This record gives sequence, structure tokens and C-alpha cells, in this order.
Amino acid sequence: MAKALTILGLESSCDDTAAAVVRQCGSEPAEIMSSIVLGQADLHAAFGGVVPEIAARAHAEKIDICVKQALMRAGVALSDVDAIAVTAGPGLIGGVLAGVMCAKGLAVGTGLPLIGVNHLAGHALTPRLTDQIDYPYLMLLVSGGHCQFLLVQGTDSFTRLGGTIDDAPGEAFDKTARLLGLPQPGGPSVEAEARSGDAARYAFPRPLLDREGCDMSFSGLKTALLRMRDRVVAEKGGLTPADRADLCAGFQMAVADVLAEKTRRALRLYLAHQPAAPVLAVAGGVAANSLIRNKLESVAAENGVRFIAPPLSLCTDNAAMIAYVGLERYRAGLRDDLTLIARPRWPLDSASPALLGSGKKGAKA
Ligand code: KG4
Ligand code: ZN
Repeated sequence: MAKALTILGLESSCDDTAAAVVRQCGSEPAEIMSSIVLGQADLHAAFGGVVPEIAARAHAEKIDICVKQALMRAGVALSDVDAIAVTAGPGLIGGVLAGVMCAKGLAVGTGLPLIGVNHLAGHALTPRLTDQIDYPYLMLLVSGGHCQFLLVQGTDSFTRLGGTIDDAPGEAFDKTARLLGLPQPGGPSVEAEARSGDAARYAFPRPLLDREGCDMSFSGLKTALLRMRDRVVAEKGGLTPADRADLCAGFQMAVADVLAEKTRRALRLYLAHQPAAPVLAVAGGVAANSLIRNKLESVAAENGVRFIAPPLSLCTDNAAMIAYVGLERYRAGLRDDLTLIARPRWPLDSASPALLGSGKKGAKA
């Protein structure tokens, strides 16, 4: 029987301290033996966004506890582990450093190989962990910090087909919620309001649809929303629940339409590679939005492409995805050593021109 490979993964690039153990026996599907995510939402709540220094300190305080919990939950000891994988960027540098230093300490103490993982690769390879799909596939990464189309061709081979030139959609949802006095995170609250709203009442723009290619822009939508809100407030002295619901529905529909049309274009580029079993996969918190998910699913169906959306706990930040990338990299003979650095910016596809802007959480890619 083929020897099992067991990888410990660490993630601390944003506001979740996470550790996980993933194991794979031969060519069997990889198994998540444990996945611990210690969120920091309560620490940042009063500030309306993630405070990098607070995040870094909380990661440094919790990462070792998190690793212990992951090992315990998985029922393995460090001596059962084959390699330590850690997010080495992109992200908030203090947090990334906390993870990298912890992983280096573990590697030195145990003599185990160290594997630096790009956080975006973690999201991008998740459908291989959950659904064992083959390369190449198209990935739409859509969260509070990222928005890009990736042609995923191999463990270490990505081509970015396009992405946002300003805000990520999750960020736009969060700002919309703030402008309308709804609770954070904004995505779920805007979606809940939109359910009873009329998406056609307010004419939101569809940014960049007139421009060829797969680049996107979302910051204009929140400016449009601000102007519409102010107009209603000036006319009526305030927003009724129906006004708020209609604004949310109009905003959400605009985001969904832009994502759907740009996905259509990205699929055309992907299908030109004539994949044997074409797949469109999504990851990131915004993929939890039912309207967006349904529209993307329809675009995939229109093109005869399988649609995969991993369970939400694996769509959002976690360390199982980092451990899984570590596993693929280990099998490919890719290793790092103690010269591994923490990188605030680390595009997956260094050949494509840099995109402008970044998400609220500062992950620039
Ligand atoms: O992937 P994620 O947990 O964290 C990173 O940004 O890395 O994504 C969080 C983002 C937030 O901006 C949140 O508002 C958004 O995903 N989100 C949603 C929904 N649920 C979460 N956006 C739209 N609709 C939702 N249902
Ligand atoms: Zn992420």
C-alpha cells in the first residue's frame, strides 16, 4: 500500500488564524483530518474593518494554540507529519510573518521540510481537494480581498485572465452595508435585504462591460449607491425599509450581472484550450451569495461546463487549503528552506501585468 502523506498547514494572512492536517494515501482523495479556524471578527468589530496590528498580534498569540488543536483533533503527532506548509503571502505582513515564523520554528525543531504556499493558490486548488478535478480548470476567486479569473493549469502554473482594477466585490458589499446602516459583514446582510427588494427600481451601472476582456471594477457601484441614497434622503428625509431593500437588490443584481458576463468571456478563453472535462469553479466568501452563485451556474450550464462551488467553510480562509497545496508541492518535489520570506504582495501569475488596487484586507495580487 502506498505510504500516506500527512501535511500540517498554517494560515494567518488576514483575520483568521488557522491550522489544519490533510492526509492522502497514494492516489486516493486527500482527507481533511482537522481544520481549525480561530476568527478575529470580535477584535476588529469596533473599527469597521481589519486593523493590521491587532490582527498580527492576535495571530502571534494564537497560532501555536491553533496548531496544537489541529494536531489533537486529527489525532496525529508532529512525528506523524511529513511536511509543514505555511501561507507566505500575499496578505497583511504582520500576520503572514507570525505564521511563517511559527512554521520555521516547527521545521527547525522537528527537522521536517518547510513549504511556503501562496494564499491564492490555496483558494485556487481547493476544488482539487474537494472534487478531485483535473487541470486545467477556470477559477473565479471572489471575496472581500480578491477578485480574479485564473486559468489553473498545474500545482505551480496559473494564468490570470482578468480581475478587479479597484475594489473586490465583497468589499463593495461591505461598503454598501455600511452606507445603508446594515451590519457587517455586508454580503449576507445586503443579500437578506435584497430578497424583498425590486432590483429594477434603481438603475445601477454595469462597470467595464463596454471594455473588452475580463477585467472588472466595483468601486463605482458603491459611489452610485451613495448618490442614490442621498437623493432619496434629500427627497423624503430618510430611507424606508422598501427603499433600502430596493437599493440592495439593484446593487446585488449589478454585481451579479458583471460577474456573469465577465465569466462568460473568461470561459471562452478557457474553452479555447479544449479541456477534456471543462470545469468552472468559484471560491471566496462572495460565492456564498445565492443570486451570484445561480447566475454563474447558469453561465456554466449554457457552455456545457461543470460548475463547482466548494462548501463555504472551504471557500473562505482556512488552513486545509494551504495544507493541500503543500501536499501537491511536496509530491512535485517543491520545498523551501529557512530563507523563506513573508510577502505582502505575491501575484500568482507574475507574467500578467499587475492589477491596480486591493481589497479591504490588503491582499494585493
Ligand atoms: O473569503 P472571505 O471570507 O474573506 C476574504 O475576503 O478573504 O470573504 C469575505 C467577504 C466579505 O466581504 C463578505 O461581505 C462577503 O465575502 N460575503 C458575501 C456573502 N457572504 C460573505 N458577499 C455577498 N453575498 C454573501 N452572501
Ligand atoms: Zn482568502
